[in-house]
Amino acid sequence: MKVTVVGAGAVGASCAEYIAIKNFASEVVLLDIKEGYAEGKAMDLMQTASLNGFDTKITGVTNDYSKTANSDICVITSGIPRKPGMTREELIGINAGIVKNVSSSLIEHSPNTIMIVVSNPMDTMAYLVHKTTNLPKHKIIGMGGALDSARFKYRLAEALGGPISDVDGMVLGGHSDTGMIPLTRLATRNGVPVSEFLSEERLNTVKEDTKVGGATLTKLLGTSAWYAPGAAVSGLVQAIACDQKKMFPCSVLLEGEYGLNDISFGVPVILGKNGIEKIVDIELNQAEKDNMVSSAEAVRKVNDLLEL
Ligand code: LAC
Repeated sequence: MKVTVVGAGAVGASCAEYIAIKNFASEVVLLDIKEGYAEGKAMDLMQTASLNGFDTKITGVTNDYSKTANSDICVITSGIPRKPGMTREELIGINAGIVKNVSSSLIEHSPNTIMIVVSNPMDTMAYLVHKTTNLPKHKIIGMGGALDSARFKYRLAEALGGPISDVDGMVLGGHSDTGMIPLTRLATRNGVPVSEFLSEERLNTVKEDTKVGGATLTKLLGTSAWYAPGAAVSGLVQAIACDQKKMFPCSVLLEGEYGLNDISFGVPVILGKNGIEKIVDIELNQAEKDNMVSSAEAVRKVNDLLEL
């Protein structure tokens, strides 16, 4: 199993680290445009191998896509991260050009790869990768919902005053401060609806805190977060590499599911060796459906800015 991670910044490096620590991949190639940077990160990470007990070989390369040849999975984290006060959507001008170049260079050397898109604005960047690469739709996965759901579970556990391992829940919709849809109705504490424990008002606070999860961290850190994004990507990579048939909300191309077409948008999917094995079309209530429609409209407005 060969995995390429493009972008050796904080998200890319964390992602490579978590993949290596889980020890399921034989090789991770870390690629960056900054001379020597990916080589340095890879060397530093390899020097943790004997300490952390992994055998995954991490190689760093400066912009040499021939070294990424025949990757089973490619992760795109490249582009600029947001600064405090910025929305993810404001990054489109710079990141669209970068993601277009990166995805076409990757596909040249790994025509059968599965691509995971992390760069923001993520739903639009995943859509752009569809338009750029012509890969089959089950092979392009936008990572947002897995991260947003992890942040949702963190906030739920905090409100419940219990451990995160007791909590389950999903966030659908666009990966943006206003577009995320935390499904409080379906969230549970060991199978019991969270509404048994938390008032509607408290659940609304959980929802709002979840939606601005990334923005809150950007404000604290001065740049966007990396540990949870890296861990979320490594979870998707592992589900594919180990054919786990695990369910995550991911941004995928919709063709009628949830009443939406020609958009990459956050819905639950089953991930396995083929990438997206299945899109899970769950029954939403009217308020949730309305939220899906307005969230999709907002993503479409950003997609319209692309020069395709
Ligand atoms: C975040 C970025 C990765 O939500 O979109 O932290």
